[in-house]
Amino acid sequence: MKTSTVTDFCIKQLDLALRSIAAVPLACESQQVANFPQNSLEPSPGDCALSVALMRVNHVGEVCAQALYQAQALATPNSELKRHFHTAALEEQQHLNWTAMRLRELGGRPSCLNPLWYGGAFVLGLAAGRVSDAVSLGFVTETERQVEAHLDEHLERLPESDQRSRAILLRMREDEIRHGADAEAAGGQPVPAPLRWAMTLMGKIMTRTAERF
Ligand SMILES: [Fe+2]
Ligand SMILES: [Fe+2]
Repeated sequence: MKTSTVTDFCIKQLDLALRSIAAVPLACESQQVANFPQNSLEPSPGDCALSVALMRVNHVGEVCAQALYQAQALATPNSELKRHFHTAALEEQQHLNWTAMRLRELGGRPSCLNPLWYGGAFVLGLAAGRVSDAVSLGFVTETERQVEAHLDEHLERLPESDQRSRAILLRMREDEIRHGADAEAAGGQPVPAPLRWAMTLMGKIMTRTAERF
């Protein structure tokens, strides 16, 4: 690769990372966060603090989704699969928008460790993609399955009064299930059990940390 090409490549990746970490991607008219129902009751300060912590974690998950899909698109030589990952990343941008906007509405801030989460997810996505396309797609299916389980836990923990955050998570859950099924249908292989356990452990560390930082 020529020096100018390497520089262009690095600037593009940095730009994509900064857009995920430090900006809120635009949502199309029909997908605005404003379309989700407002809360009918004012949440107590305690409820609000819990919603902030949980929505911060969900925002981190969407930052990681951007990193994973960008890295996996980069890793595959298959142009059709590249398009698949780019399309999924675009859909995930709606989730990134909703979680960032909801955090703002609640008066919360994103995780200060987002650069670290993005970097870690990018390396993981690149590693999975370098093994094979089937492993890369299987990694997506397993990730989305674990995200679904995580969203179920958050739906249990969200304060009753926060119907607006609940509606956002329910919609995200629907999309994540579809992303997992699409990756499986595209040829994803089941990931080996030790990798599955490692992913679960890392997910738990990330979610517990992001609730506070
Ligand atoms: Fe998502
Ligand atoms: Fe997803």
